[in-house]
Amino acid sequence: MPATPTGVAAAPGRLPLFGHMHRMLTEPRGFFESLRGRGDIVTIGLGPTVAYVINEPSWVHQILTRDVHKFAKGIGYEKSAPFLGNGLLNSTEPTHMAHRRLMQPAFHTAQIAAYADQMRESAEQRATAWRDGQVVEFGQEIHAFTVAVVCRALFSADLGNSVAVQVEEALPVLLKGVTRRIAFPIGWLEKLPTPGNRRFNRARHRLDDILTNVIAQCRARGATDGNLMAILLSARAQGDGPGLSDQQIHDEAMALFLGGVETVRDVLSWACHLLSQHPDIQRRLADEVDAALAGRSLDHSTLANLGYLRQVLTETLRLYPPAWLLSRRTVTEVALGGHRIPPGSHVLFSVWTIQRDPAVYAAPSTFDPDRWGGAAAAALPRTYFLPFGAGNRNCIGEPFAWEEMMIFLATVTAHWTLHPSPGHRVRPSRSPMLQPKRVPLIVRAR
Ligand code: HEM
Repeated sequence: MPATPTGVAAAPGRLPLFGHMHRMLTEPRGFFESLRGRGDIVTIGLGPTVAYVINEPSWVHQILTRDVHKFAKGIGYEKSAPFLGNGLLNSTEPTHMAHRRLMQPAFHTAQIAAYADQMRESAEQRATAWRDGQVVEFGQEIHAFTVAVVCRALFSADLGNSVAVQVEEALPVLLKGVTRRIAFPIGWLEKLPTPGNRRFNRARHRLDDILTNVIAQCRARGATDGNLMAILLSARAQGDGPGLSDQQIHDEAMALFLGGVETVRDVLSWACHLLSQHPDIQRRLADEVDAALAGRSLDHSTLANLGYLRQVLTETLRLYPPAWLLSRRTVTEVALGGHRIPPGSHVLFSVWTIQRDPAVYAAPSTFDPDRWGGAAAAALPRTYFLPFGAGNRNCIGEPFAWEEMMIFLATVTAHWTLHPSPGHRVRPSRSPMLQPKRVPLIVRAR
């Protein structure tokens, strides 16, 4: 293991062999936030391994942009590799940029607008099935919605619907396995036939089989209708070069599932929870939605008139960024300020901590969508807001996510007001994403 550079503070409470596993599993965000005051760069123990936590946002920006070629994706992706394979989320150059260019057309504005109708259909399917006064488990409802939306955009309406339920079951099991593997990254433990490892492997094989099957069906049909799978199937990497193999298509589809399902579900779940806690904000949002719809059906063009909804979602992304902890591994020595991080080192940064810095955000824990309106918003430093990452590894799905999130929340707001379920406290789960455990809310017809 390379020596730790001098002058780098070490986080207290590191246990031999276990490192900071106990804190990573029991209070992960509090743990990372507690490191902010200890220095711009601090070491922690991931099991017996050392990792560098970067607290200085300008260095995080440097890692994601100027120095991006000095880093590989880190431990979070390494531990997801058994099911993620080599898709956009964790592939290295030059494959990454070649595949990203191929997939980019599926995320262009015109194409995103074309997904709007099926997104609205999926949102209405859920929101119109609820009864006045019903307690709705929003985590589950939104998960079903986001799986359906990604499956339909990725494959086609009929194939998408047929795989959605199976994907919905498999993803949470895989993410739970990844959490354990990050907190205590000991390779041989992952191979033991424990119940957790067996569940992880079963879910991985199930998802593999689903994708293999559906790719074969798409190939057999011939892809024509502009969905993501059609783009992948007809892709030619370089001019007349070979297209993507079934394995490559499988891995890219997996990246879109992992990148696109749980993230949107988490933001929307938190947003619904926050709205239920803030009736005044909810009322203002309802007024905006009513005025924008004015009795018409929601479509892509409506979204341009929903500025306050955008602020509500931006503030939710600030408080609850699903990818709250990003990881990298140095492939060469990297200089950050006066420090030299050796090659092969784990590097982590907490988006949660950066986006709650009291030096930049007044009352950082308060849900205040107004901070994103007017001149005050323009003055906020961009390096302190990175829910979608930055640089050439930023989120390719960001425009898709905005479309989907706005359509879902506008649809729900048009029909219902949301109220907390008495006696229930919404808390984060142990997922590697920042996910609320359960979000039971009472819906009342408007
Ligand atoms: C609110 C929703 C979303 C959030 C907060 C989010 C967040 C992120 C972040 C932070 C990254 C960069 C990770 C890193 O640098 O390590 C990323 C990458 C990625 N996201 Fe998203 N994402 C969201 C929605 C989506 C959607 C809807 C899709 C696809 C349909 C998607 C697909 C991807 C892919 C494929 C990458 C890898 C891009 C690359 O490395 O070139 N994401 N996302």
